[in-house]
Amino acid sequence: MGLHTTVEIDELFGDAGTAMVDLAERFGRYQTYSQEHVDSPIGVGLPQRFDALTNFLRTGGRTGNPTKEDLRTLGARTNYFREEYAYGLEPRISGIEPFLHHQAFVDAARAIFPDRPVVEPAIAFANLMVPGQELAVHTDVPEFRGCNRKVMPQWLLVVMHHSGLFERWRMPIATGVSWFHDCDGGEFAYWPDGPEAPPAVHQVRRDTAVVLDADSVFHGVDRIASELPEMAPLRPGMGLEPAGGGRWVVRDGDEVAAEHHWDELRFSVSWKAYCFTDEEEQATWRTGADDLTLEVVLDRLLGDLRERGLLEGDAPEDPELSQLLVGSYIRFPTTA
Ligand SMILES: [Fe+2]
Repeated sequence: MGLHTTVEIDELFGDAGTAMVDLAERFGRYQTYSQEHVDSPIGVGLPQRFDALTNFLRTGGRTGNPTKEDLRTLGARTNYFREEYAYGLEPRISGIEPFLHHQAFVDAARAIFPDRPVVEPAIAFANLMVPGQELAVHTDVPEFRGCNRKVMPQWLLVVMHHSGLFERWRMPIATGVSWFHDCDGGEFAYWPDGPEAPPAVHQVRRDTAVVLDADSVFHGVDRIASELPEMAPLRPGMGLEPAGGGRWVVRDGDEVAAEHHWDELRFSVSWKAYCFTDEEEQATWRTGADDLTLEVVLDRLLGDLRERGLLEGDAPEDPELSQLLVGSYIRFPTTA
């Protein structure tokens, strides 16, 4: 048994993934993920996941990048497409219900968090990636009572979890990542035994899934195979949509920026569920009792940095403050 329990599911629906692929096409247009934004006094102007982005730009990705690429190309590689299929128990497209309430996910969540049998689906979302793209190594955005991505920068929530200082307020989330077609490249790499141990590498196969504590286990997506000599110039604001006959196009306004066949894309659907110890904890979560505030979070983090000799005197201004927090608490994998 490793540091973190993970569960692999070999057959999710037994239909070779066709229902979910139909759903993906029926959904229509997918926006780039990097368009997310939050109003907060800390980290103004920094990308939501500058923690993972900075590590990616520094290392060139999990398998490294010997021919150092320019920032625009590297940005295009991680500028993938995402949409929500369900939020909470609310479907945003019909046909997602069997996925959202899949018993195999619930069972796997209970295996990962054995003391937390009350499993409540929180979200189902799709990631679509085009040839040449990859997903920088990261841990997912965790949630704490009073602190989520609607009110705080995503990188700060990640810092909070890695600091270990706010576990009393954290709501453990189980994540199931699933695939519904085969993919050339685009392996799911994850570090169940911690960032210093070698990663596990899961080849993407139709109708399979991996369930894990993605807020604690580092993971990423290796580069998707590409026949093209250059990376398409993908930027925030572009959209990916089906164009009939298995063709998908990336649109930049009315212009077509790239065109691919479905078989060249990488499609994954993620399931996330809150895992509560009991109904009482579930109720506390709902009513917002015992919520943390940004002021308390920053006081505690800065106090800890001072105690550890990593900060003397007043806290620096941003962006140095945000960089200090990410650099002090998030230890990225050193193994590929
Ligand atoms: Fe993730």
